[in-house]
Amino acid sequence: MQNKAYKLNNGIEIPKIGFGTWQTPDGDVAYQAVRKALEAGYRHIDTAAIYGNEESVGQAIRDSQVDRREIFLTSKAWNDIHTFEDAKAAIAESLHKLKTDYLDLYLIHWPNPASVRENWQTRNAQVWRAIEEAYEAGQFKAIGVSNFHPHHLDALLETAKIKPQVNQIYLSPSDQQEGLVRYNEKHGIVTEAYSPLGTGSLLEVDEVKDIAKKYGKSPAQVAIRWSLQKGFLPLPKSVTPARIFDNIQVFDFELSQDDMAALDRLKGTAKGATNPDATQF
Ligand code: A2P
Repeated sequence: MQNKAYKLNNGIEIPKIGFGTWQTPDGDVAYQAVRKALEAGYRHIDTAAIYGNEESVGQAIRDSQVDRREIFLTSKAWNDIHTFEDAKAAIAESLHKLKTDYLDLYLIHWPNPASVRENWQTRNAQVWRAIEEAYEAGQFKAIGVSNFHPHHLDALLETAKIKPQVNQIYLSPSDQQEGLVRYNEKHGIVTEAYSPLGTGSLLEVDEVKDIAKKYGKSPAQVAIRWSLQKGFLPLPKSVTPARIFDNIQVFDFELSQDDMAALDRLKGTAKGATNPDATQF
C-alpha cells in the first residue's frame, strides 16, 4: 500500500484508500475491525471524536504489529468545539484517547454546526488557528476540513495562515458534488470520499452490480475503483472481515471509460449528501 499514495500540498504522502470507522461502535467491534484492516493492508485509518471509538481504534493500532509511523491516522474536531480553547482541549483529548503523540491529519468535522449558525465564520477561524498551532508544534502532519462547501472554504481562507490540505466529503457516483470537487482541485486540496458505497445503498443499484459482474469484482470494489479513478481518496467502512479485505483489493483492475461514464450517470440513485448549512447538529 505504501507506494499507493497521493501527495498533499505540504509534501506529506497519504495512502490512497483509508479505512472508515463512522458508525463503527466503540469496544470490541471497532477494535476488531481496525485490527483486521491493518492485517488486510490498510495503512490509513479515519476516525473522529464524535464516532466515540477513538480509544478502541488507538488500542487496535498499538496492539497491531504495524509501526505507528507506517499508519496514517486521522481524527476530527466535532461541532461542540467553538473556540480556540475548546479546540486545544479537543486536540489533547483525541491524542490521549488514541494513545499517540501526533496525528497524521486533523479536520474540522463540519463547517456550520447548528449551535453557531449565526457566526460559523468566527468559530471556524478560531478553531483553525488552534489547529494551525498544533500543526506548527508538530502534533499534526497535515490539517484540513470536512463537509466544507466553497463558501465555507472561502471564508476560512480569509484568515488562514495555512491552507487546508484535505476536504473530506460525502462522495460516490450517487452524489458527485462536482462544483465542490472542482474547487478542491483548483486549490490543491485532496478530496477524500467518505461513504464511497453510499453507506451501502449504492451496492443495490443494478448498473453497479452489472459492471461488477463484467470484471469479476464486487459492487463495492467497483464503487471504490470509481472513486480512485476520479482522483478521490475513498474511505470505505466495514466491520465485516471479508468485506474489509475485499474493499482494498482494487489495484488489480481498471474500469473502462465507458463504465466510468455509466457510473457517472448514477446521480441520485442512492443516498445523497447532507447540506452542511441545514444540519440539526
Ligand atoms: P458492514 O460494516 O456491516 O460490513 P460506506 O463506506 O459507503 O459508508 O458504506 C458502509 C456500509 O456498507 C456498511 O453498512 C457496510 O456494512 C457496508 N459494506 C462495506 N463493504 C461492503 C462490501 N464489500 N459489500 C457489501 N456491503 C459492504
